[in-house]
Amino acid sequence: MRHKVIVYNKVDSTVIEYLKKTCEVVYFQQNEQLLNNPLFLKELSEAHAILGSRMSVNSSFLDLAPRLKIVSNISVGYDNFDMNEITKRGIMATNTPTVLNETVADTIFALILATARRIPEMDQNVKSGKWVKSNIDEEWFGVDVHHKTLGIIGLGGIGSSLAKRAHFGFDMKILYHNRSRNEEAERLYNATYCSMDKLLHNSDFVCVMVPLTKHTEKLIGKRELSMMKKSGILINASRGKVIDEEALIESLQQKEIFGAGLDVFTQEPVANDNPLLSMKNVVTLPHIGSATKETRLKMQLLAAENVVEGLMGGTPKNLINSEIVLNNR
Ligand code: GLV
Repeated sequence: MRHKVIVYNKVDSTVIEYLKKTCEVVYFQQNEQLLNNPLFLKELSEAHAILGSRMSVNSSFLDLAPRLKIVSNISVGYDNFDMNEITKRGIMATNTPTVLNETVADTIFALILATARRIPEMDQNVKSGKWVKSNIDEEWFGVDVHHKTLGIIGLGGIGSSLAKRAHFGFDMKILYHNRSRNEEAERLYNATYCSMDKLLHNSDFVCVMVPLTKHTEKLIGKRELSMMKKSGILINASRGKVIDEEALIESLQQKEIFGAGLDVFTQEPVANDNPLLSMKNVVTLPHIGSATKETRLKMQLLAAENVVEGLMGGTPKNLINSEIVLNNR
């Protein structure tokens, strides 16, 4: 009997071809409202693996999928997984770290530059005919990025790729705060470990890179924002809920910080009436950290390899809950 794999996101055809070599594949390209789709529910009741991103895999979902052996995320973050429930049921969970580090670091750097130099606002000024004299006034000036201090909260793989750009490309000083010391980044990029408060006080750019967990929800709130420099810029490309969005809105309205660059929001897609969308000093992106053709393909293939490895009785390369290995298989 072939194992049944549900792919619930649109993926490259090579991913489907790869899976079909060893598994029966059921492919749902449109992942909206799947839990209301009787066909999806029927396939889920027989599935051994699911592959995609952003599905909320919690106890009620797992009740619908009694045969599952592996849940494979096409993302590095896995806050959509209830890891206790998944592990309790002896199911493997995997993600796709590493292959996206450089691409996400590019996105973050784009946000840093776009916010500091007010790129989207200037673009609009040119396109709407506001550029009427050759010498621009100080009101259109931005702030420097090079030689400034970048504070990275959560210096893992993506944070290291960011630190590399900042150190070698922009001569920036790097402060970081992390659960544990990152000696490699200290050695290679001259990164300095410090407390979060010290980082917030001293950084020109504060970049939040922690995964979303119950410990990191609203990690950056009113108190933390008030510790930032008035000229400081906050960058978030991790998960929206890591920042207390209401506190951020207030802090931007009160001009306590200079601006923010956001790839992620508390609610996604972000609501049209979110005040952040009407602030000129806020640069927004629709959660595109890793969204390039090349990187998304690498992530999809890695997620598929994790599925095949797990279903074949091996240990997937990116197993998150390694504690379950072999106990239940
Ligand atoms: C994207 O947000 C990811 O976690 O990979």
